[in-house]
Amino acid sequence: MNSKKRRRQIDGWIDERGDRREMGSEPEVMRDKAAMRLWSRSRRSQGKTVALVPTMGFLHDGHLALIRTAHPLADLTVVSIYVNPGQFAPSEDFSTYPSDLTGDLKKLADLGIVHAVFCPSNLYDYEGGFSEMSTADRVSSAVSCIEAEDDGSGHETWIRVEKLERGLCGKSRPVFFRGVATVVAKLFNIVEPDVAIFGKKDYQQWRVICRMVRDLDYAIKIVGSEIVRESDGLAMSSRNVRLSPEERVKALSIYNSMSKAKYTALHEQTTCQEIKDIVIQMVEKAGGRIDYVECQFSRSDLLHLQHQFFPVLQYILLLQRTDPSTSFSVLGFVQAHYGSTDSSASAPSSIILHLQQQCELVKLLLVEALRSADCWCNMVVVEQESLVAVEDIRTPVVICVAAWFGKVRLIDNMEINPCGI
Ligand code: PAJ
Repeated sequence: MNSKKRRRQIDGWIDERGDRREMGSEPEVMRDKAAMRLWSRSRRSQGKTVALVPTMGFLHDGHLALIRTAHPLADLTVVSIYVNPGQFAPSEDFSTYPSDLTGDLKKLADLGIVHAVFCPSNLYDYEGGFSEMSTADRVSSAVSCIEAEDDGSGHETWIRVEKLERGLCGKSRPVFFRGVATVVAKLFNIVEPDVAIFGKKDYQQWRVICRMVRDLDYAIKIVGSEIVRESDGLAMSSRNVRLSPEERVKALSIYNSMSKAKYTALHEQTTCQEIKDIVIQMVEKAGGRIDYVECQFSRSDLLHLQHQFFPVLQYILLLQRTDPSTSFSVLGFVQAHYGSTDSSASAPSSIILHLQQQCELVKLLLVEALRSADCWCNMVVVEQESLVAVEDIRTPVVICVAAWFGKVRLIDNMEINPCGI
């Protein structure tokens, strides 16, 4: 046996499913939709499950963390690398989006847990009849870097997650989520995965995909993976490479301001507006330009929440009737937002209870009900004696921020849980 072969044997291992894997083993690289579909279908027909990690490449540790999350969730892991022109407006950075396919493939091979890489050159090429437009060629009426051909042969089908896509990033990037939902649906149809992983760094994107999968009955489990940060707190992003050293320092104000806002929410009586102001002031002081700062609740499925809540409401009313003698009055307040900030969605829906019962008991019941609804519990505010105005709700759950540093737009978010539950 030659030394190279011996080395490969030493470096290899049998994974938990009995598949032989090798350190640095090369994933299969596919550029063609049909080849990718065939690869996936043939594995699935052998009973293997497939996890998909969609990316736009220029991979960093945030992407690699998603792949590590995917690995135990399915027999095979597929990573897609495709800078999707459909999610960029003509004025955005499609043409300068960083890429390094050779470096990416090496990183994926070194990881040793990726079975296939799908890197199509043009996902909108239908029998050679359509091409992505370059920035220079683009007509002024174009809304994304995909334009329908005049002869009617081009791409014209888009998926819109109508409410969720409107707020936050959707405000300044009106075609972004249309492009993301559509390309992810295309990837789902080509790879046909059992599970797909998305980063919570792109919080709204993750929620949009969850909603699309639910609404269109995709039999795909969507898993959200935690944000990966640089050691100083900056969220990892392929776009960070385009920050100058000075902008890189300034960009840290997003993380620092959100940390301060979180500390304030945890330790002081404050409001959503004050939380937002902390972030706005610190980012602007550092020289950033705010696109938006919003406080969002994580649960977008309000009906489900209400459904879970009603039995508790009934129970509390029952208690009230059986023991009306308790001396102080309590207001239980539950507030939930849909995941976007458009006008109808941002109007909070609240359930207000006036009752003669013990504050802690009410709180416990609500927390329990919300927990079983898979909902963060810090939506629960139980106040004695006074009504709580909507603006005074002290419990933002996720702060979402987008800000510009020079020509680079960064987004980030941070979860807050004042109850510590
Ligand atoms: P891209 O920006 O390359 O990100 C690919 C995936 O990695 C996304 O799910 C994103 O949320 C996740 N990700 C990026 N940085 C992360 C970080 N610091 N921590 C955790 N996860 C992180 O998002 C896209 O590509 C595209 O919109 C795509 C979904 C591929 C559709 O084109």
